[in-house]
Amino acid sequence: MNDRTGSLTPAVTSDPLRYAFTARRPVMPRQDKQAVSETEIPRRWAALEQQSPAAGKRLAYINIPFCRANCLYCGFYRHRSGAPRLNRYVDLLIEEIRRDAALPLVGDRPIHAVYLGGGTPSDLPAGDLQRLLAAVRECLPLAADCEITLEARIAGLTEEKIRAAFAGGVNRISVGVQSFDTRVRRRQGRVAAAQEVVERLVLLAGHDQGAVIADLMFGLPDQDLASWHRDLDSCQELGLDGLDTYALKLIPGTPLQKLVERGCIEQPAGLPEQAEFYAEAVEALSTAGWRQISNSHWARTPRERNLYNLLIKSGAETLAFGAGAGGSREPYTFANTPDMEAYERAVAAGDKPVAMMRVSDALQPLRDTLMGGVEIGRLELPALRACMPMSVQADPSPWRLVDRWVEAGLAERRGEQIHLTVAGRFWAPNLVTGFQEVCAQALESGRKAHADG
Ligand SMILES: C[S@@+](CC[C@H](N)C(=O)[O-])C[C@H]1O[C@@H](n2cnc3c(N)ncnc32)[C@H](O)[C@@H]1O
Repeated sequence: MNDRTGSLTPAVTSDPLRYAFTARRPVMPRQDKQAVSETEIPRRWAALEQQSPAAGKRLAYINIPFCRANCLYCGFYRHRSGAPRLNRYVDLLIEEIRRDAALPLVGDRPIHAVYLGGGTPSDLPAGDLQRLLAAVRECLPLAADCEITLEARIAGLTEEKIRAAFAGGVNRISVGVQSFDTRVRRRQGRVAAAQEVVERLVLLAGHDQGAVIADLMFGLPDQDLASWHRDLDSCQELGLDGLDTYALKLIPGTPLQKLVERGCIEQPAGLPEQAEFYAEAVEALSTAGWRQISNSHWARTPRERNLYNLLIKSGAETLAFGAGAGGSREPYTFANTPDMEAYERAVAAGDKPVAMMRVSDALQPLRDTLMGGVEIGRLELPALRACMPMSVQADPSPWRLVDRWVEAGLAERRGEQIHLTVAGRFWAPNLVTGFQEVCAQALESGRKAHADG
């Protein structure tokens, strides 16, 4: 195909699920944004926090960058949990939230989903969890139906904590299970044995106070299709409301990636095998009556809305609290410093600990519409077109790429909609990166043509 799609184009093969591409191209939401210089950040932030909220749904992210163990595959590990450190950290978080509460940026437009992520927020002692949640509810303008998610793991998720979470307003607990196979779990540094995971999940769901979600990963070392199938089966009887199925990413710098590189652990499943795991999940879960609510999220009951994850993909405005927490308010994305000492110094001085700001380009509305649509496996072509700058609209390349996805069996055209097939959903990140790269090239040549002409 003699156009700009080049290597972004899927191969047309008889087996698109396994062979449409040879690599999954990760979505880098910040890569096309211009960094604000370190010296300029305080001025830009001071102006930003005086702005009122934008229209649309809003989110808040609260980062708890502490874990009791560093799981081999995980790229999120920052600090080891310990009661005194967590206690002090929650003091700082509450101070940061209280400071921001009075700002025009926080304002009084409703916040529709709050996510306590990490790290492992369920490592917080019950008392700390309670006072943090109380501050969130007192200081932030939460919508009456606000989804409040607590990320958790089984080890250390005591009855006292579960009660504190639900009493404090948490209505969605997302538990990192990863696998029900004790051998697979232990190999990755997971503490709890499979039987304990099953029992605790049943107890948690038995509270009947909020959505209970389990995260599973596929493509882990020692995991084969049979063990994956047993994992999916195990989820049927636990009373779960939702399930997340993630393909293992071998993240550079993680203990797993280093061990694989040194040959101490065998290379985990490649992309064709991961694709089979994915298709197996789609088949098993849809047959068992689960609804696919995004490429990697499943709902068994109406309690699971997955609001935060869906809205953040569509670029919803996000307030951020805690060391390393990231947020966005058009035209900026921003993040607090991940450095705990710098975080503590800034909060103690009454400053927002923001350390990174980026400005989005003219393609941001298109990117948000694209990512939001791809996430649910459905693109509305008129909506995409409406977000395109004029020069991009006039360029045929983005539509050729979509045609090629249809030709390759990764998508189907239904009137003005494009629906991803199972294979298309597995390769979905490549549609986001491919489409936006083609659009960025079209924008650039439009600019050049304008300058030359
Ligand atoms: C921020 S992590 C929090 C996990 C939680 N603290 C725990 O201990 O289970 C959220 C989810 O991301 C997924 N995840 C983490 N590392 C991953 C990787 N390398 N590849 C794919 N998914 C990953 C896992 O399913 C995990 O439950």
